Amino acid sequence: MSNDARLIAGNEEYTYPVVSGSVGPDVIDIRKLYAQTGMFTYDPGFTSTASCESALTYIDGDEGVLLHRGYPIGQLAEQSSFMEVSYLLLNGELPSPGQLKDFSHTISRHTMLHEQLMTFYRGFRRDAHPMAIMCGVVGALSAFYHDSTDIADPVHRKISSHRLVAKMPTIAAAAYKYSVGQPFVYPDNSLSYTGNFLRMTFGVPAEKYEVNPVVERALDRIFILHADHEQNASTSTVRLAGSSGANPFACIAAGIACLWGPAHGGANEAALNMLKEIGTPDRIPHYIERAKDKNDPFRLMGFGHRVYKNYDPRATVMQSTVREVFKSLNVTDPLFETALRLEELALNDPYFIEKKLFPNVDFYSGIILSAIGFPTTMFTVLFALARTVGWVAQWNEMISDPGQKIGRPRQLYTGPTSRDYVSLDKR
Ligand code: SDX
Repeated sequence: MSNDARLIAGNEEYTYPVVSGSVGPDVIDIRKLYAQTGMFTYDPGFTSTASCESALTYIDGDEGVLLHRGYPIGQLAEQSSFMEVSYLLLNGELPSPGQLKDFSHTISRHTMLHEQLMTFYRGFRRDAHPMAIMCGVVGALSAFYHDSTDIADPVHRKISSHRLVAKMPTIAAAAYKYSVGQPFVYPDNSLSYTGNFLRMTFGVPAEKYEVNPVVERALDRIFILHADHEQNASTSTVRLAGSSGANPFACIAAGIACLWGPAHGGANEAALNMLKEIGTPDRIPHYIERAKDKNDPFRLMGFGHRVYKNYDPRATVMQSTVREVFKSLNVTDPLFETALRLEELALNDPYFIEKKLFPNVDFYSGIILSAIGFPTTMFTVLFALARTVGWVAQWNEMISDPGQKIGRPRQLYTGPTSRDYVSLDKR
């Protein structure tokens, strides 16, 4: 019995090969469908479409499973480091101690920005959203690093990959410093990747900055949780931009722009702002009713997911990290209680149960980031910082695929059919 899929269109029958991956749903290879049938498939939002083959990240949305190169996110969050997960995503295997040391050393040697790039920030208003600055500054990197933009050269690809992973913390920290009118703090490569970022963000020249190991560990874990996530909207943007041969800096800038949307990476900022608007638990039922009201555009930010129809495993780790950080820093935040109560009420509401809406990675992250001292406008910047290694790994995987072609979807055209021009005097 052939494993092919059969399609009957018109009075013709067509067969298409069914292809299996190592785990997860099979795919129907329809690359010849248009040539054979003269028809397109139609899948706005790509709910049933696999855009590529990848070996990086696997998600089972029904089971709430997330694997990076086969390793469960819970184990990586608990036992690994962001530098180690970055190596894993970029190279396919966990590093040996020597490989990790060399990789971390290489990354640390690319943390500084070209001094001319630092003047780029002065063109922005001080109150510019830091994500607007990230789009501009990361895109501008391609004006400075001409020596690593030949995407056909694997050495160039490796250098630009390392530059992007290394420079994002420096760029992000400078965006924050600019917004608060403090001087930029240069990298200190004696610190860890995450410790270096904390010092560049919260350190000031007037005082010695001591990295808090609890905060460093919690933020490093948050970076791990955000590192990669299959073919989400911003990763697909990076791949599509890269498929035209655009340089990696421009592709990552495109990914940052897409991530900014509140339906995607911007949800962490929107979720905390929502919790602030709700305020106290007694106001939660009103907002849950609004979220269920089709005539009300309000949605529970940090809830729901295209793929997870179960609890997002990252939200589980995030919630436990809130408890750990609060206990260690001896801090509380009434918004955490509001968030816990909101989750409890939503998960017991038939609407959310029927639509399988659970907290996602963005629901609790803002509470920790706020406790560490980041303003809400920096939340998506931190998401972009961490996701850069995933975007870069996905970009490398696509560029290295001998079968890759420029991405060029078609459409269902519903506009006017051909008609003659009418001169102005006859209209
Ligand atoms: C991220 O793709 C990724 O992997 C993304 C990400 C990553 O790591 O890259 O995981 C990061 O982007 C997480 C998602 C962050 N966004 C939010 O928290 C924003 C709030 N969530 C929703 O906007 C929504 O859930 C999406 C955008 C996340 C998913 O949207 P889908 O898959 O297109 O689902 P949908 O909009 O079709 O919703 C299905 C139904 C709808 O009701 P019906 O039209 O069927 O009656 O569920 C409802 C929606 O109205 N619904 C919600 C809801 N999310 C979906 N109702 C209330 N509150 C919500 N949050």
